[in-house]
Amino acid sequence: MLTQPKSFVRAIQGEIQARPCFWLMRQAGRYLPEYRATRAQAKGFVDLCLRPDLATEITLQPIRRYGMDAAILFSDILMIPHGLGQKLEFKEGEGPVLEPVTDAAGIAALEKGLEGSLEKLGPIFETVSRVKAALPLDTALIGFAGAPWTVATYMVEGGGSKDFAKVRLLAARDPALFEKLIDVLVEATTRYLSRQVEAGAEVLQLFDTWAGVLPEDEYQRWAIEPVKEIIAEIRNRHPAIPIIYFPKGSGMLYTHAAAETGADALGIDTAVPLEFAKLLQHQVTVQGNLDPIKLAAGGKAMEESINRILAALAGGRFVFNLGHGVIPQTPPEHVARLAEIVRGWRHRAN
Ligand code: CP3
Repeated sequence: MLTQPKSFVRAIQGEIQARPCFWLMRQAGRYLPEYRATRAQAKGFVDLCLRPDLATEITLQPIRRYGMDAAILFSDILMIPHGLGQKLEFKEGEGPVLEPVTDAAGIAALEKGLEGSLEKLGPIFETVSRVKAALPLDTALIGFAGAPWTVATYMVEGGGSKDFAKVRLLAARDPALFEKLIDVLVEATTRYLSRQVEAGAEVLQLFDTWAGVLPEDEYQRWAIEPVKEIIAEIRNRHPAIPIIYFPKGSGMLYTHAAAETGADALGIDTAVPLEFAKLLQHQVTVQGNLDPIKLAAGGKAMEESINRILAALAGGRFVFNLGHGVIPQTPPEHVARLAEIVRGWRHRAN
């Protein structure tokens, strides 16, 4: 039987739709009581990501409540360093803690880890297959990974950072060495995402949360180039797979990301002016960009912001989303209201 691609897949590929598709970054997570209950059954966050029964359940939770057009695999961008053998822990209230990579020996050890990495992450591909089989007919499954630059920031800093001094100094003092780390990540990410596609992912997203800390010249080398390589190689293996790139904080360089990476769609952050987003729509599909704080606050201000975004962007290539992830303080009923507004929207040509 010939079936039409799912609405969300067509939206990412550039189809303009009467009612825009939507999903939310971090749509599964701590703001949902059912997430907290499921998470309590795992030994820790890494264990949670490697438990297909629990990760499948969590991926489906927001779909059951709100019926987004796409589900995003429940996992984390730091599962690649974990797969490569870097020690990773998520500490309560602290976020991720990694044994920092600082020198050539550390990078060589990670390179050795490439071989066994997919096997270690095997349960994640099992989750992808299970979710795919359980989704409603027109709901697409998004697979994802972190982009090399953003993942490298956590690997070198040993966790989250405010100034990114360690990773930026490593890249500035010894670019050849830092490039080795980036190359390992390009290879690991390409293999990891290809496996997600083979297991059933229908769209991929690359999260580059910290692209915006790079100055223009380094942005090209450390953000754009590795992503371009990953996209080209995945397209080699899976020509039809739509890919979203989210280089948060790119400012005017979004134009460059749209032209250079080969992504079908770009995620835009809350700082991107809607007039600028409209220009980007001539290059790619645009995904974003409601402020997660507005969603958490709710009320009239949230509704006005949603409507303003829809009015500006829903007439072009567009997927509604946030400008960053749902925050834990978000009341679940605000997400229900958002879903109602987006679903009720009809584009009026005038
Ligand atoms: O619903 C979804 O969006 C899918 C699951 C998902 C998670 N993390 C689950 C998660 C996705 C796509 C991510 C991506 C991710 N992880 C990014 C890129 C996007 C972004 O938010 O900028 C980054 C930078 C990470 C790394 C990470 N993971 C940090 C810094 C933290 C701690 C801070 C925080 O928000 O908790 C995590 C933990 C994490 N990843 C949680 C979840 C639901 C919370 C863990 C918990 O339950 O305690």
